[in-house]
Parts: sequence; C-alpha cells; structure tokens
Amino acid sequence: MQIENLATDESTEKAAWEALEKSILYYRGRPIGTVAAYDNSVEALNYDQCFVRDFVSSALIFLVKGRTDIVRNFLEETLKLQPKERQLDAYKPGRGLIPASFKVVSDNGGEYLEADFGEHAIARVTPVDSCLWWIILLRAYVVATKDFSIAYQPEFQNGIRLIMEICLANRFDMYPTLLVPDGACMIDRRMGIYGHPLEIQVLFYTALRAARELLICRGNQDIVAAIDNRLPLLCAHIRQHYWIDIHRLNAIYRFKSEEYGKAAVNLFNIYVDSIPYYELDKWLPRKGGYLAGNVGPSQLDTRFFALGNLMAIISDLATEEQAQAIMTLIDERWDDLVGDMPMKICFPALEHEEYRIVTGCDPKNIPWSYHNAGSWPVLMWMLTAAAIKTDKTSLARKAIEIAQARLCEDEWPEYYDGKKGRLIGKQARNYQTWTIAGFLLAKELINDSSHLPLVSFDKLPLELVSRACEFEIGSVDPYIS
Ligand code: GLC
Repeated sequence: MQIENLATDESTEKAAWEALEKSILYYRGRPIGTVAAYDNSVEALNYDQCFVRDFVSSALIFLVKGRTDIVRNFLEETLKLQPKERQLDAYKPGRGLIPASFKVVSDNGGEYLEADFGEHAIARVTPVDSCLWWIILLRAYVVATKDFSIAYQPEFQNGIRLIMEICLANRFDMYPTLLVPDGACMIDRRMGIYGHPLEIQVLFYTALRAARELLICRGNQDIVAAIDNRLPLLCAHIRQHYWIDIHRLNAIYRFKSEEYGKAAVNLFNIYVDSIPYYELDKWLPRKGGYLAGNVGPSQLDTRFFALGNLMAIISDLATEEQAQAIMTLIDERWDDLVGDMPMKICFPALEHEEYRIVTGCDPKNIPWSYHNAGSWPVLMWMLTAAAIKTDKTSLARKAIEIAQARLCEDEWPEYYDGKKGRLIGKQARNYQTWTIAGFLLAKELINDSSHLPLVSFDKLPLELVSRACEFEIGSVDPYIS
C-alpha cells in the first residue's frame, strides 16, 4: 500500500512538472513567466497571459529548483513595464504600478510585451497587489541567489522607490493601512473588499519589510524614514483592530458608539448589530482567532480570508500568539476552512440579499463558488509555509494528502465549489498554473523547510545584514514586539 502511494505521489509530481513546463511563456527566446492556465478547451480570455500574482507561486518553485533565470527575466521585463513618469492622464496607469498581467505580442517578425494595468480586465479592476508581490518576489530572488547586485542596480532601486512612493505618499485617509478600490487583489471582482482589505494590508506590510532590506539608504533617506515610520504603526493597527477572538468579540459586543475625540475606545464606531455575533460566538473555538477581512468607518468585515491570515503568519505581521490561534482555528474548523480541498479563499459565503447587494448579483460569485467561499488549491503553499512557521506541520501534511488524491485526476482546476470544496469549480479552468505550482511548492516546503526564508523574515540572512552595513542599507527590525 505504502509503495503504491509513493508511486502515485511520484506520478502526480511528474505530471505537475510536465504541466508547469508547458505553461512557460517565452519572449525573444527567453523564458519570462508562466501563463495563468494552459487549457485549450475553453476560450482563453486573458488566461493566456502571465499574471504577476499568479507567477509568484511558479517563481518560488523555480527558485527552489535553482531555475533562477526565468525569475530574473520576469523581474527585469516587468520592471520595464512600470510607468516611470508622473501621469496626469486619467486613462494612464499611475507612476510606480506594476501590471496585473502581460502578454507577448508578435509583430512583423519581432515581439513586444503588452501590459494590462486593469484597463482591459473584466470590470476594469486595479491590481494594487502586483507591485507589492513584485517587491516580495525580488527579495525572494535575492535570498535564493544571494545575488544582491540585481536589487542594487539603479533601475531596480528606482522601481522599488516608485512603488514605495505610490504607497506611502499622497493619500486621502490617515490610517496606517492602504486605501484601495474593490477587487484590487486576488479577489479581482466586486466582493465588498474595498477600503482596507486584509490581503492588501498584509502584502503591503511584507513589501515594506522587503523594500526596507533592499533599498540603499543613501539617496533614499526620505523613503526609508517613511517605511520606518509606517511599519510599526501598520503592524500595531492590524494586530489590534483586525484581531477577532472570543475576548475581542466580548469587547466588541459591549462597545459604545458615537464616541468623539481622543478617548474613544470604539475607534471606528462599529455598530454591534452589524456583527454576526451569535454565529461567531458559536464558530470561534475557545483558543482560536483570526484577522478580520476589512476594517473601516463603521465597518468590521468578520469574514475569514485565507491569503491575508496565512501571509500574516508567514511575514510575522501576526504575533506569535495570534499565529498559533489562527492555526488552531484552521485545525478546529477544518471542515469549514479546508474540507475536501485546501482551502477556502474566504468563509463564510455571502448569501441571499447580501450576495445580491455586495457582489452586484455576480453569477460567477454565487454563494460557495469562486471568490465567494470557493476553495483554491494555490493557497496550499501558504498554508504549508504558515504551518511550518507555527510548528503545525501535521496540518499541512493532511492538506497536501487531501489535495494530492484529486488534483491531478481533476486536471488541476483553478478552484472548487461547494461548502466542502467537493465540486470542481463551475467555470474553473483546467491546468491552472498556480494550482500546479502551489501544489509543487507545498510539497517542496514540507519536505525541506529550509526554503521558508524565501518568503519569511524569521532572521535576516546574514549576508543581507553585512551587505546592508556596507551599503548603508536599513537592516534593523524594530517592528516586532
Ligand atoms: C482570476 C483570479 C485572479 C487571477 C486570475 C488569473 O481573475 O481571480 O486572482 O490572478 O484569475 O489566474
């Protein structure tokens, strides 16, 4: 039996690698990314493009395997697509943005790249997460290759700087979090995640830490000072205001409202009746907790979003106790959050009137489907990384085993539907690249946890610290209490 399992494991991995190879996108003869899905059975729409957020999963597995050239090419080419001039034209992407996706266009025997900053995307959504993932990936490349020179090139320094400027400079609100429109991240459709959604805040935090390591202080003093100012405030804000556990629910349940001025306790004027406190009271395990989906004026979105919570563990944005509590929640609410396919993008689904109002009656996002509490295998690598971080590897092993039994046979779907994730997603692509890469990456991580520093900040790699001193690069890490 054991030998049989091993054989299935091997053949699944072999099939995954073959599919991943097929997804590689070439530009002027060099590999520069992976297409979102290699599925000829349906209309490609934009799934034949390389999405920045999707490529991160492929890139990390390529880095693990020492295939660093494709990641380097990707970083260089996407940097060229970043607008470098200040734009006053409403239809031009803002300076510093990195596109959601790009494609290779053949023209008179030559080739060029065409970027999509959301101007072609369904519903014209803005990909705020792309520039954050780009910095996170650049750091992963530096960690993997110990090749600091790429990040220290003037073009890369400028690229990081422009991203920092678009995040840190002009803005309307006065929260340490980042204010973004709806659908600005992995959930790129209307799902009530406008304002200060967790996913963006966690990627922002992670990108700030990565940028702090990579930026040469000389010439960037203003940006470095701004990062140092923002990081501890952002960290404290998320840990305090996004956290939900039974103690916090008790505090919220007894909140007063309409408090004005500095002494206010209910800072965001959350009205208790807007919180599904009876459901939460039943659902929250005694020791479990999680970071809320969104916090804003009179808004506390109590849905659980997987990417934000898992990346908060990986990047140390969550405290050690919070990280443990999030994993406890996943363990104790396994059927809801993992079920038959790891794992739910969010929980619970928006249903009935709420679904109609919040999604705009989106037929793709019906309850328990796609972004509305569907199950996304790509999240498996983040679950695995978070499990390693918190010493809960048995949870990751269990999740990988569940996925392994189905993914290959189901032809690597983009997502699954249903309360337990037993149905292949209604409109899911097959051979979805980040499903394939996410599975391979989860396996690599669980087999060898020394790859974790590609995405985590446990200790600053020694080389970075010493090079930091040499180049006057910021390397202190005063943010974690
Ligand atoms: C869908 C997903 C998005 C992903 C894209 C390509 O639009 O919502 O997160 O990047 O497909 O796979």
